[in-house]
Amino acid sequence: MALKPLKTEDSTYTFFDDEYSEAMHSLSGAYREALYMHVLPSRVLEKEGTVCVLDVGLGLGYNVLALLYEARKRNDNAFYHIVSFEKNPAIPCTMETIMFHDDRDELYKLIIRAAIEKEVTTAWYNHVVLYGDARKLIASMPEDYFDAVFHDPFSPAKNPELWTVDFFKKIYHVCRDDGIVTTYSAAFHIRAAMHQAGFRVGIGPQVGRKKEGTIATRKNADVVPLGDDYFTALKTMAKAIPFTDELLCDDPELIRQRRHEAMHDFKKDHQALE
Ligand SMILES: C[S@@+](CC[C@H](N)C(=O)[O-])C[C@H]1O[C@@H](n2cnc3c(N)ncnc32)[C@H](O)[C@@H]1O
Repeated sequence: MALKPLKTEDSTYTFFDDEYSEAMHSLSGAYREALYMHVLPSRVLEKEGTVCVLDVGLGLGYNVLALLYEARKRNDNAFYHIVSFEKNPAIPCTMETIMFHDDRDELYKLIIRAAIEKEVTTAWYNHVVLYGDARKLIASMPEDYFDAVFHDPFSPAKNPELWTVDFFKKIYHVCRDDGIVTTYSAAFHIRAAMHQAGFRVGIGPQVGRKKEGTIATRKNADVVPLGDDYFTALKTMAKAIPFTDELLCDDPELIRQRRHEAMHDFKKDHQALE
């Protein structure tokens, strides 16, 4: 899986992944995206005590870095317990090539160490990195546990297995009632998938050149849900039909194909009614 470096507009580097033909971050600012799309909207920096965060797709570890760097700047009293899922075991080699040339480097070295040694514990955080398919790894997570989930795979078209109703149901079960899921996609079928998984789904921030993101929760009152009208309208749109993967093990191609067929059937049924 070849990864090629690309400098983004906030001077931090992302990498282009040949397997997915996609960069890991927005070219308008990789670190900026981590901070403004995930860390701040998750509201975990406002919490006290033990704060648990699930990081779906460690990638370069920027979401974890932005969380820890901001927490340290605020000098808060929380203890962060972070679990990252990552499929690509070669990711630490790529991380080792990255430097920020500022005081983020010290923390980033600890994140690289967690990616290599699979766990790092300090006085104020514990970071566990689990390698494998997130669909399998999530089964070993406790229910009602996470205060935030940074949901950050590649795009739905390229990485559909992590954008299905069934995977979002798993995320729903490991979240606390006031937990917040952050993600960068605002696609109708992604919001429909989160809604069908049981989440209250709201509008996330707009960062760089990306369209607004999406945030979701079981019960956190700070997430203003999109109204019933929004989801009623989605029921009339073929493009709002979500990916499914009931057994959480199907090939990406099969998941795409199943959605494609469901959209085709939906259009046929709707034409027959007109
Ligand atoms: C967009 S990058 C994540 C960027 C990252 N969050 C960061 O802060 O730098 C997506 C990551 O998800 C990983 N990934 C893709 N499919 C996966 C799967 N099924 N299970 C676990 N990780 C997966 C990829 O290997 C890649 O590292």
